[in-house]
Amino acid sequence: MSVIERFRLDGRVAVVTGASSGLGVAFAKGLAEAGADLVLGARRAEKLADTVALVEAAGRRAVAVATDVAEPEDCRALAQAAVDEFGRLDVLVNNAGVGTAVPALKETPEQFTSVVDVNLNGSYWMAQACAAHMAPGSSIVNISSILGLTTASLPQAAYSASKAAIVGLTRDLAQQWTGRRGIRVNAVAPGFFASEMTDQYQDGYLERMTERIPMGRKGDPEELTAAVLFLASDAGGYVTGQTWAVDGGITIT
Ligand SMILES: NC(=O)c1ccc[n+]([C@@H]2O[C@H](COP(=O)([O-])OP(=O)(O)OC[C@H]3O[C@@H](n4cnc5c(N)ncnc54)[C@H](OP(=O)(O)O)[C@@H]3O)[C@@H](O)[C@H]2O)c1
Repeated sequence: MSVIERFRLDGRVAVVTGASSGLGVAFAKGLAEAGADLVLGARRAEKLADTVALVEAAGRRAVAVATDVAEPEDCRALAQAAVDEFGRLDVLVNNAGVGTAVPALKETPEQFTSVVDVNLNGSYWMAQACAAHMAPGSSIVNISSILGLTTASLPQAAYSASKAAIVGLTRDLAQQWTGRRGIRVNAVAPGFFASEMTDQYQDGYLERMTERIPMGRKGDPEELTAAVLFLASDAGGYVTGQTWAVDGGITIT
């Protein structure tokens, strides 16, 4: 196998959560371009249909399942759809996430819990559901954030805690599953990429943050997709338990 062939996912099946907008759409398209068939989950089924069309335009097959990752039963149903539709499950991109910014003395237990339920618990339920079907050689890529590694001038206790917890979840699942089951588990920690989530920032925030980024700009979703593809494919075959910042260098400032 040539080095470039290690990045191919021909004959493999990838589950992407949060595939109805933003980065999840880019991941689904990129994995399809690399040869994978896709199983797409998010709550907004009508938007998932657009992502199915993108995957099909890349020449691959896709199935969409309305999924709330905070519900373990929904997660099991999404993983089962991969097996029912395609007979296998090789890659999970644990991308579904919600962002908030609430000052700590004002944040209610419900607000805090609702973020952790999706970002952390949802990632764990999805990993459990998918790993049960994965053969050796499979790969899980969790989407953490630079907010799991540093701060960025917003009050984001729930988001930051959930994204830091994904670093620990990644390490622990790699320790449990890589040796015993042959499943690699890694994470990426994205910096700033344009999406519905970053559209919610106040005017001027991203511009101020850009001054902290050595690359001097936001990331292009395709640059993040390339990192996810490396970890999802045999190209990353000797990497497990790691969290990789893809952030234009902001975490070194
Ligand atoms: N964009 C960035 O700069 C950036 C930086 C660091 C990390 N991230 C992370 O990247 C991931 C994608 O974010 P994004 O920027 O692409 O934001 P986005 O456009 O808001 O996408 C979030 C996705 O998550 C899905 N989602 C939310 N709650 C869900 C739930 N309970 N069950 C299933 N799906 C759910 C949404 O779909 P539905 O609403 O249809 O359910 C949507 O598809 C998130 O984990 C985010 O924390 C993003």
